[in-house]
Amino acid sequence: ATVKVDATPELARKIPDTLFGVFFEEINHAGAGGIWAELVSNRGFEAGGPHTPSNIHPWSIVGDDSSIFVATDRSSCFSRNIVALRMEVLCNDCPAGGVGIYNPGFWGMNIEDGKTYNLVIYVKSPETADLTVSLTSPDGLQNLASINLKVAGTSNWTKLEQKLVAKGTNRTSRLQITTHNKGVIWFDQVSLMPADTYKGHGFRSDLISMLLDLKPRFFRFPGGCFVEGEWLRNAFRWRESIGPWEERPGHFGDVWHYWTDDGLGYYEYLQLSEDLGAAPIWVFNNGISHHDEVDTAIIAPFVKDVLDGLEFAKGSANSTWGSVRAAMGHPEPFPLKYVAIGNEDCGKKHYRGNYLKFYNAIRDAYPDIQMISNCDGSSRRLDHPADLFDFHVYTDSKTLFSMMNEFDSTSRDGPKAFVSEYAVWKRDAGKGSLLASLAEAAFLTGLERNSDIVQMASYAPLFVNTNDRRWNPDAIVFNTWQHYGTPSYWMQTLFRESSGAMVHPITINSRYSNSLAASAITWQDSGNSFLRVKIVNFGWHAVIVRIATTGLEASVNAVGSAVTVLTSDNVMDENSFSHPEKVVPVKRQLRNAAEYMRVRLAPHSLTSFDLAL
Ligand code: AHR
Repeated sequence: ATVKVDATPELARKIPDTLFGVFFEEINHAGAGGIWAELVSNRGFEAGGPHTPSNIHPWSIVGDDSSIFVATDRSSCFSRNIVALRMEVLCNDCPAGGVGIYNPGFWGMNIEDGKTYNLVIYVKSPETADLTVSLTSPDGLQNLASINLKVAGTSNWTKLEQKLVAKGTNRTSRLQITTHNKGVIWFDQVSLMPADTYKGHGFRSDLISMLLDLKPRFFRFPGGCFVEGEWLRNAFRWRESIGPWEERPGHFGDVWHYWTDDGLGYYEYLQLSEDLGAAPIWVFNNGISHHDEVDTAIIAPFVKDVLDGLEFAKGSANSTWGSVRAAMGHPEPFPLKYVAIGNEDCGKKHYRGNYLKFYNAIRDAYPDIQMISNCDGSSRRLDHPADLFDFHVYTDSKTLFSMMNEFDSTSRDGPKAFVSEYAVWKRDAGKGSLLASLAEAAFLTGLERNSDIVQMASYAPLFVNTNDRRWNPDAIVFNTWQHYGTPSYWMQTLFRESSGAMVHPITINSRYSNSLAASAITWQDSGNSFLRVKIVNFGWHAVIVRIATTGLEASVNAVGSAVTVLTSDNVMDENSFSHPEKVVPVKRQLRNAAEYMRVRLAPHSLTSFDLAL
C-alpha cells in the first residue's frame, strides 16, 4: 500500500484555528458533582423548587425522631430561593456527639489529608447556640476535621465562614452540623469548596487538566438537551444562574433528571472558556423545549432576554448587564463570538420563525457574532441565513468510519459546518471502546480534509460521573476522586495540533483502502516544524505502507521525529478506574523518518507519524 502526501506549499490549506474544541453539557452530573467542585449537594434545601415541604435530599439527620425534627419553610433571607431548613432540637440530654444534620455530598465527599476546605453556612438562631461542624466518614465515626462555632441569639440571618483542614483522607465523607442545645435553628446555603480549585475559579483541577490536554479551541456550553428542557419551565436560564451563588434559585434539569444549584452558571462557563483559552460558544434556549414551544408572535421577551445575556458577556462594565458581570469579578468583556440558536430544534413548528427573530435582533445589536442554525446544511441549502449550521451524529462505528467523506460534496457557498456532537454509540461503543475511537478518528481525518467548509468539531458527551451514567459512552470518566480518558478522549489528543495547522493532499493506494483513512498536516511547535501523517487502520490485519512525501521545503530529520500509536490487543478494549491506561497512545522515536518510509500499521490502530523538518 502507498500513502502519498503532497506537501507542496501552494497546495496546502490552512485549517481553521477553531477546528477542534470541546462541548460541555450538564449531563451525567458533569457539572454539579463533577467539574464544579462544590461538595454539598442541594446546598440551599431548594431541590424541590420553591415549595414547602421542599426536597431536602440528600440531607439527613444525626439523631432520631425523638431528639430532632427538621422541615423546610420559606424563611430564607434570599428572596429568589426562599426555602430554608428549620431544625428543632427536642432533647434535653442529647447524645454525646449531639444531634443535627449531615450532607453526604454527591455520592460522598472526597476529603483529602492536609487539604483546606472553605465552609460557608447561613444560620439564624433566636437563642445563642453552639454548633460543631465536622467532616466525617460516611457513618459519622471517623472525624477528619471539626470546628466549634458559637451562634449569637438573634432573629437575623448570619453568614458564617470558616476553613476546615482535613487530618485524614476519606473518599466518601460527609459534612455534619451538630449541637447539644435544645431549641430551633434555621440553616440555608451551606457550601463546602476545596480551597485548591483551578485558578481559584471553583473547578476541579484534575478534571480541568484533562481538558487542557486537549488544547480545545472552543468551548460549547451548557448543552445539548439541557438547554431545551423536556418542558420550557425546566430549561437552563442564564439570568437565574448569575450573581452571588447564594441568591441563585437553582433548577431541576428534567431531561437528565437532576437538580443543579447552578453554582456553575453562565458566568462560570464564560470564565472556564477563558481559563481554557477556548472561544466560548453559548447555546441558548430559543423558546423551544422537547414538548412545548413559544409561538413566534410572542417570542420578543425571549429575544430581549438573550440580548441581555449577550450584554452580560460582552457589554462594557458600565452597561446594565456588563456591570453585573464586573461586580462578579470580570470587568473586561468576555470574547463571546458564537451563539447557537437552540439545540436540535430544526423542523419544529416555531423553529424558523423564532430563529429569524433571534437572528435579526442579534445581527443588529452584535454584527460580530456568528450564529449557528440547528438545521443541517451539509446536503441542502438552508431556507434561512446562518453563519454556521449544526451537525450531530451518533451512529455505529462502521457508519461513522464511512462518513469520513460526509462533507466532500457539501456546497462551499453556504454556511460553514459545526459538527458540535459526534460519537460512536450503542452497539459497538461499549463504555468507550478502541473500535469507537478509530471510527471517530477516521471521521475526523475527513473533517480535516474538508476544513474549508467544516469550521469546528467536538465529541459528545464530554464527561460522565459513573454514579449517574445517563449517556454512554463519554470522553472523560470520573467519580468523586478518580478519572480516566476513554480511547475516544485519547484519540482526540492526536488531533489537538490540527487547529490552525496546514492540511495537505493525501491519497491512499491499497487493496485495503476500504479500511484505511488518513490525513496530513504541517504545523509549528516552539519554532520547530513538523509533518504529521495520521493513518487509521480499521481492519483486522496489519498493513505495510510506504509513505511517500513530496513537495517538502525542508528535509526530514530523524532526530525529533516520533511515531505514536493508539491500539490494543482487543478491538473492544476499554479503559477503567483499575486500568486507566489500557488503551492510550504510546509514543516512540521514529528512526526511519524520511520522505519515503516503509511502516507497519497495527491491526485496529491509529498511528501518527510526526516527522521533524
Ligand atoms: O450529547 C447528548 C445529547 O445528544 C445532547 O444533549 C443532544 O444535543 C443530543 O441529542
